[in-house]
Amino acid sequence: MQDRVETALEAREIDGGADRGPLIDPFGRAISYLRVSVTDRCDFRCVYCMAENMSFLSKSEILTLEELDRLCSAFIARGVRKLRLTGGEPLVRRGIMTLVDSLARHLRAGQLDELTLTTNGSQLEKYAQHLRAAGISRINVSLDTLDAEKFRAITRWGSLDKVLAGIDAAQSAGLKIKINTVALKNVNEDEFPRLLEWTHSRGMDLTLIEVMPLGEIGEGRLDQYLPLSLVRARLAERYRLDDIDYRTGGPARYVRVAETGGRLGFITPLTHNFCESCNRVRVTCTGTLYMCLGQEDAGDLRKPLRASEANDLVFAAIDEAIGRKPKGHDFVIDRRHQRPAVARHMSVTGG
Ligand SMILES: C[S@@+](CC[C@H](N)C(=O)[O-])C[C@H]1O[C@@H](n2cnc3c(N)ncnc32)[C@H](O)[C@@H]1O
Ligand code: SF4
Repeated sequence: MQDRVETALEAREIDGGADRGPLIDPFGRAISYLRVSVTDRCDFRCVYCMAENMSFLSKSEILTLEELDRLCSAFIARGVRKLRLTGGEPLVRRGIMTLVDSLARHLRAGQLDELTLTTNGSQLEKYAQHLRAAGISRINVSLDTLDAEKFRAITRWGSLDKVLAGIDAAQSAGLKIKINTVALKNVNEDEFPRLLEWTHSRGMDLTLIEVMPLGEIGEGRLDQYLPLSLVRARLAERYRLDDIDYRTGGPARYVRVAETGGRLGFITPLTHNFCESCNRVRVTCTGTLYMCLGQEDAGDLRKPLRASEANDLVFAAIDEAIGRKPKGHDFVIDRRHQRPAVARHMSVTGG
C-alpha cells in the first residue's frame, strides 16, 4: 500500500512551474522558504499553543498526502529552496513518511536545498532513522523544560522521557538538532542556563522564542509573556554572548556563548521586528496560504488544487496571494491587547 502511494506521488510532474519564474512579493522579497503544516492535530496540548479541548478539522477538509506533495512541488517549481514540515505535530499524521520520502526526490534532483521538520519529539524514537535515510539532515525539536513535572504541566499530555529518548535516537541517527524553547514567565525562566548548557554539551543549538499572541488558549498572554531582551540581559550576566552572523534562513538572531562554545538564537517577534527580510510563507493542512504569520489575510489553494489535474489554477492562485504579501505584522501584548492578534492557533500555521 505504502509503495503504491509513493509511486503515485513520485509520478506527478509539476508542469510549467519553472517557466513562470520565481515568486517575488510586492516589496521585492523572493519567496524561498515554505512551511507546511501537515496536520492540525497533536499528541500534546501545550498551554501557549492550544486550549485543552480543541476541535479539529475533518478528513475531507484536510489535503491528502498526494495533494500536499503536489502543492509543495508547485512551490518548489517556483523557486522555494527550503521546506519545513510542521503542524500540529507532523509526525502524528498517518503516512507522513510517505510524504517525506516523496518530497526527498527534490533534494536528490538539486531543486531543494533543505527538507526539514519541526517536531515535539514524541515520535522521534520511531522515525529518526527513516528521516535521516530520506535525506533530512537537521530538525528542530521543541522542548521548554528539562523538569519532568514542568514538562507535563506545559504540554498537559506529554512525557519528557519519551522526548529525551527521541532526541537520543535522532542524534544517534546522525540528525543535527536545534532545540526551540518558548520563554514563559514564571514557568521556565530560571531554566535557561541549564537548557543552554545541556544543549551545547550535546552539540545542539538552542533558540529561545517569545510567546506570540495567536489563538484563544484560555488564559491571559500577559501571564506568559517574557521579553527576550530581559532574558538576554540576565544570561549576559553569567555568560559572554558574542553576536555572530550565523543565519538558518529563519528569523533567529544568534550569539556564540563563549563559555560553552555553542550557538544561542533569539526569536523576538515582539521586541524586534524581523519582517523586512521575510522570505517565507506558510501553507496549512487545508491548503490555506498565509503570507504572514501575524496577519489574517490568506489565499485558498485547495479549491484550485481540487478543481483540475493541471497546475495552472494552483500557480495562478499562488501568484495572486503572493501579490498580497504584506510588509509585516504588528504583534502587541500589553494590558490593552489581551486578545490574540490573530484568532488562529500556532498549531494551524505551524509557527
Ligand atoms: C506549533 S509547533 C508545531 C510543531 C511541533 N508540534 C512542535 O511543537 O515543535 C511549532 C513551534 O511553535 C511554538 N509555538 C506554539 N505556540 C506558540 C506561541 N503562541 N508563541 C510562540 N511560539 C509558539 C512551539 O513551541 C513550537 O516550537
Ligand atoms: S507547540 Fe507543538 S507540541 Fe505543543 S501543542 Fe502546539 S503543536 Fe502540539
